[in-house]
Amino acid sequence: DLYRPERQNSAGSDLSDPLTVGRLMADVAGAMAHERLAVPLIDGKELEGAMRLVIDPSDSRRLVGRVFEAGEAAAERALSVVAAAAPGWDRTDVAERAAMLERAAELYQAHTAELLALCIREAGKTIPDALAEVRESVDFLRYYAARAKADFASEGLDLPGPTGEINRLRLRGRGVFVCISPWNFPLAIFTGQVAAALAAGNAVIAKPAPQTPLIAALAVRLLHEAGIGGDVLALLPGGGDLGARLVSDARIAGVAFTGSNETAWAIQKRLADRHGPIVPLIAETGGLNAMIVDSSALAEQVTRDALVSAFSCAGQRCSALRLLFLQDDIADRVLTMLAGAMRELAVGDPALPSSDIGPVIDQEALSRLERHALRMAREGRLLSETRLPGDLADGFFFAPRLVEISDPRRLDGEVFGPILHVVRYPASGLADVLSWLSTCGYGLTLGIHSRIEATVRFIVDRARVGNVYVNRGMIGAVVGSQPFGGEGLSGTGPKSGGPRTLYRFATERAVSVNI
Ligand code: SER
Repeated sequence: DLYRPERQNSAGSDLSDPLTVGRLMADVAGAMAHERLAVPLIDGKELEGAMRLVIDPSDSRRLVGRVFEAGEAAAERALSVVAAAAPGWDRTDVAERAAMLERAAELYQAHTAELLALCIREAGKTIPDALAEVRESVDFLRYYAARAKADFASEGLDLPGPTGEINRLRLRGRGVFVCISPWNFPLAIFTGQVAAALAAGNAVIAKPAPQTPLIAALAVRLLHEAGIGGDVLALLPGGGDLGARLVSDARIAGVAFTGSNETAWAIQKRLADRHGPIVPLIAETGGLNAMIVDSSALAEQVTRDALVSAFSCAGQRCSALRLLFLQDDIADRVLTMLAGAMRELAVGDPALPSSDIGPVIDQEALSRLERHALRMAREGRLLSETRLPGDLADGFFFAPRLVEISDPRRLDGEVFGPILHVVRYPASGLADVLSWLSTCGYGLTLGIHSRIEATVRFIVDRARVGNVYVNRGMIGAVVGSQPFGGEGLSGTGPKSGGPRTLYRFATERAVSVNI
């Protein structure tokens, strides 16, 4: 089967085993001991940049490392070096390109402790979230290597030649891809974008989020160690105008971006304004994700799935549940259980196995959540709030909150953090819920909890969202099994981790030979 290449996703860790957790903690503690560095890295050479300190979001007094941010000289150098290297990389045999990505997967696994330490300290991930992130990155590397081998054979697809000629359709790299990645999956999305672009035969300039350059620097070091040339993959840490500078350049052949809608629109505009080749923008943006629960649902299951979907990664997933639609008949039962479960959640240092919820990424994110919570206190009804321990004042912690609102239209956009909104609907109100879904504009994830097949089918057939999850949680898409990505305001596609992801990173060439 073409869509099931010989490949397995990476194995998990048993966190219920104290020995496993103990070993993990010791390894991670060792890896946390030294300060990290990220610098512009082009053709294997480190370039200068403006120095900035990278601090730990769980304790802003703790330094994680330093970043030297790329300026104009580094951007120009990266563009010229990577553009020169792109044709050679595209001509490199696909098996060789794939072997490098597979080797990188092994190196990621060998450096798991360091990668975990950075996910925890630089991005504030809890241990389970950090483990999932490393696994997903490894899976992306292996999956795209396998997909490239399946689809990018140099001879291409053999097509009919009715008049006797040979017709072949080849997939080739487009040139220089700029990969602009977010801080919320600083390793998995960073690696996924870069690996997809490289697998498809593109050379890459990677610009990680300004909040998480250190983990990206380690990932790039491992990718280079795996054999990918320093001229084929350049790292440009930085913020400000750097992204705009890169996407305005006529030498680039495509942009992969995950982040806010505002930035996606700005990139689209820059690409349109530059009068260079017309190139694709692959954007994965926000979501205002709902879960619809009817009265046939199992309240315990809904509680567990809503809790994980809304609050893991401190709610900082684009897939996270934001709006829980509860049918009247089941609402009180679910809300009582949810409030009880939220009282048991532990907010704390993400490096401790006892912590369920870590910090949000920075002061700006925290302030935005606090402002939204204040507004919801006026306009909605606070049903539950997890306790925030007093000793966390030096970190950017925000306790999970459950707020009932009367009308989903009170939310005017994505709220990126652990605030779950609840809306009750009457048995006759499903059509109104669906009408809100279709007008809100976002289309990323949707959860459905119902034991009535006809209801599930009715919703699935109408919902214009990228990923629908029935009677389960709605986060943590699995590479190769649940290709991930949205529609409308949520993104352009193609989905990441899917059988057709690499096509959008590539161009098609038809070669017809008269024999
Ligand atoms: N892929 C992640 C998820 O499915 C979000 O980016 O939760």
